[in-house]
Amino acid sequence: MADIVQAAKLLGDARRVVVFTGAGISAESGVPTFRDALTGLWERFDAQSLATPRAFQDQPDLVWGWYEWRRHRVSTVSPNPGHRAVAAIETRVPGTVVITQNVDDLHERAGSRDPVHLHGSLFAPRCSGCGEAVALPPATEEPDAGRRVQPPTCVRCHRLVRPGVVWFGEALPEAALEAAARAASACDVLLTVGTSGMVYPAAEIPRIAARAGAAVIQVNPHATPMDSVALVNLRGSAGRILPELVTKAWPGAAADDPAAAPS
Ligand code: APR
Repeated sequence: MADIVQAAKLLGDARRVVVFTGAGISAESGVPTFRDALTGLWERFDAQSLATPRAFQDQPDLVWGWYEWRRHRVSTVSPNPGHRAVAAIETRVPGTVVITQNVDDLHERAGSRDPVHLHGSLFAPRCSGCGEAVALPPATEEPDAGRRVQPPTCVRCHRLVRPGVVWFGEALPEAALEAAARAASACDVLLTVGTSGMVYPAAEIPRIAARAGAAVIQVNPHATPMDSVALVNLRGSAGRILPELVTKAWPGAAADDPAAAPS
């Protein structure tokens, strides 16, 4: 049986589905993955060295400028057919849990109801001192090459406001991690999409599902450490494979299916 037919059968028969996503699902929207080289002001850095508490402590304007650049960039792009296919799965299988490592809001904008954000969000900054949530004005135009931007200060304790994301070396939000592990251990099918499967503890999620007996289906154009965990490996881009998977899993899909809509 062709892999996609097997995957569609597994998905179409599933009652509890988890979709676990990483940077790859947003790549076709124009959001760079973490393995892409940085450019402009950040050319001599890599994402791993900027996304750390140490980098923010040493050069808050460099790090805040990077996140403002990313917030602006994300607000100018749109969800792609891969995100919309995920939302379509949620409408087909009620109770589907979407777990994302992405800090963009493209799943929400594609119609996903309440994705679990394991690594936080570009849109939920908080005070680095007291932890108070801070509302930011809409992202402003940022120069392509980036710029240093001094972070705002907290109105309560006057410490610097920091991005609401999980940096390397930081713990994941406990409630999100627990919800993700719970969903993974109770699902029939876990679809892992566009993630290198190298960053822990998030990369544990598909493994939890596999250990609990779920069928793991992977969508990625390249080989990853998750290949050996997945029952089915679908090699290709999320924007192409996911809509095809949805159409094959539910052949009677309505014409207004979000997965079938043009990008
Ligand atoms: N469709 C599907 N997958 C794709 C596509 C695409 N169009 N383009 C790239 N990919 C795959 C790559 O082959 C790679 O395996 O997406 C993956 C992206 O890997 P990473 O950049 O490592 O992203 P991710 O796995 O989400 O990283 C995990 O690491 O940097 C930290 O906190 C950050 O959340 C991030 C975490």
